[in-house]
Amino acid sequence: MIELNANQAALNAICPYFTMFPLEFPLNILKRRAREGDMVLDPFCGRGTTNFAARLVGLSSLGVDSSPVAAAITASKLATTTVDDILDVTQHILTEREAHRIPASEFWQWAFHPDVLDSLCRLREGLLEDCTTDSRVALRGIVLGALHGPRQKTFPSYFSNQCPRTYAPKPAYATRYWQNRRFTPEPVDVLAVIERRARRYYGDSHPISATVRVADSRAAEALQPQLRETLFDWVITSPPYYGMRTYIPDQWLRNWFIGGPETVDYCSSNQIAHSSPQDFVSDLRKVWQNTARVCAKDARMVIRFGGITNRRVNPLELAKSSLNDSGWCITTIRKAGSAVEGRRQADAFLRAKTEPMTEYDVWTVRRNTSHSARNGHSKTTDNQ
Ligand SMILES: C[S@@+](CC[C@H](N)C(=O)[O-])C[C@H]1O[C@@H](n2cnc3c(N)ncnc32)[C@H](O)[C@@H]1O
Repeated sequence: MIELNANQAALNAICPYFTMFPLEFPLNILKRRAREGDMVLDPFCGRGTTNFAARLVGLSSLGVDSSPVAAAITASKLATTTVDDILDVTQHILTEREAHRIPASEFWQWAFHPDVLDSLCRLREGLLEDCTTDSRVALRGIVLGALHGPRQKTFPSYFSNQCPRTYAPKPAYATRYWQNRRFTPEPVDVLAVIERRARRYYGDSHPISATVRVADSRAAEALQPQLRETLFDWVITSPPYYGMRTYIPDQWLRNWFIGGPETVDYCSSNQIAHSSPQDFVSDLRKVWQNTARVCAKDARMVIRFGGITNRRVNPLELAKSSLNDSGWCITTIRKAGSAVEGRRQADAFLRAKTEPMTEYDVWTVRRNTSHSARNGHSKTTDNQ
């Protein structure tokens, strides 16, 4: 196992996310197997664990996710900045701006102290106006990570009233929960929370080129490398669990901060289909075919497949059938243990508990077939 020092791993934890895999998974693969100059791709990058691992070993990477929140978190892990620059931007926004749009419904009154909400709205509007520098991208990631979480007994670390860290509760439920327990939102020193987090995450710097893109990986152009002549050597990824449809609505509060609506957004249109195992498999196959098109001849793709038990479907069978006719050939399948992180996240806020299923790592090698054809021009937008 690769030993990480605490500073190196810290930035990976800037913001929690569902069904993230541990940093050691992509890091061990890349440290042991990748060659200098290899290019890394994750078509379901989530909170950017693979991209961060690539950065730690000095490799360039592309991360793609159809969730704007996932892309914003990933981008913050690829930012090269300093604590001073982050604090300068924060102070500038907080002192120079006034908030124009402050959500006023009952949920918001219970979720945040009015002064905290005012500061959050100023930061939100300031970053929506300009998020082009690395210090602003880093600040956005810090606020996303601190937006909601448990109330601390000592120094506050989150801006919200009592909340789960990983997902945002639905407004009616959360408001009842706070009212019944008489949990009123406390004043939090927003700048102090940001400063503590900036020192934790951005004390170390690892400059390396990486790109994050908000796009649907079922579309071939979504995975085109920045430089069109480049081919990827490694794909390390984990697709959504079959039956897990809530990546977008569960992140609705973070989605608000990056420009989304003040209410829960139930639209999951750019997500892999969960309507039936067949639709799910067919969507995954499209993504594997797209990765094959942008990969080198001897490229490897390692996929961590998980599942949740409330759907009686074997994730390994789904994995294997999604790889048929995909341009990839299975070489090894290994058990990866169970999704401990997934279970811990699901337990956090009185949620129905789902036991995690065993996860599998499926190693594949690119087949040498006509899938190497490159596609047309990229029409996707790249995030900083
Ligand atoms: C299991 S999570 C990835 C977690 C990631 N390995 C990590 O460590 O954070 C799956 C991700 O796939 C994304 N996703 C689902 N459908 C997608 C699609 N069609 N295109 C791109 N991303 C998609 C979801 O938004 C989610 O972030």
